[in-house]
Amino acid sequence: MKSSLLIITALAVSLSVAGCGKKENAAEPTPNLTPVAAAEKLDPARPDSTLAKPAVAAQPISTEPVFQARGNRDVIYSVSSKGKKVALTFDDGPDNKYTARILDILKEQGVPATFFLVGKHVQQYPQMVKRISQEGHAIGNHSWDHANLARMSPADVQGEITKTDEAIKSLTGEAPVLFRAPYGAISQEVVNDAIASGHQLIGWSVDTMDWDGKSPATILTTLKKELKPGAIVLQHSAGGKGGNLANTVEALPQLIAYLKKEGYQFVTVTDLIKS
Ligand code: NI
Repeated sequence: MKSSLLIITALAVSLSVAGCGKKENAAEPTPNLTPVAAAEKLDPARPDSTLAKPAVAAQPISTEPVFQARGNRDVIYSVSSKGKKVALTFDDGPDNKYTARILDILKEQGVPATFFLVGKHVQQYPQMVKRISQEGHAIGNHSWDHANLARMSPADVQGEITKTDEAIKSLTGEAPVLFRAPYGAISQEVVNDAIASGHQLIGWSVDTMDWDGKSPATILTTLKKELKPGAIVLQHSAGGKGGNLANTVEALPQLIAYLKKEGYQFVTVTDLIKS
């Protein structure tokens, strides 16, 4: 874990980047920086909807902008280092409905993706976890019950991460290295806990807001607008407003066709980081 972080740092340092270490300033564009990742919105239908807004703690501006323009320097939002690569990610699963349909499309299109799974759903749908793994996709930890970790005690955060790792490992034989906080809500404590338990923190640079019931056309428009080489695209494979992700499924073949036409290579987040 340590060594891969060092590799990332070395990669970041080896690439020439404008605006390195500068404070963000709207009047002073820094075109080589990756887009600022919007915090994952809280779904009003979700149990922790009482939160007024995502609890992303203020963090110092990164000095390693190959991976991010701002936010926490320990979180990878995109990797704009080499070539036209894109990582599709699907959060909050598995379930036994949309996850299967998404897997069918990915298989048909020969596209690898990354699934950030919620531990209690892993326990509920073990066969789907095995299928995700067997079909060559990467699996990341997305907490045990999609809690806002930034508001939990360090011990509880550790419990959320460890229990989910163990559930995934018991099915795939491998504990996930990738970790994405629910809602993107992190505190320095969450970052420290995730890193101490051997994880890489993953954010996103394209947020299609698919969970909110956006139309396939809007999902595609958002992708086109926010896409850059090395992008990490956030979508969902379970949940959604009213438990409906039909638009995510409908948009996916169009989204893949667009990316292929634009010459993008699909990679897992694991491979994107290595690239
Ligand atoms: Ni989520």
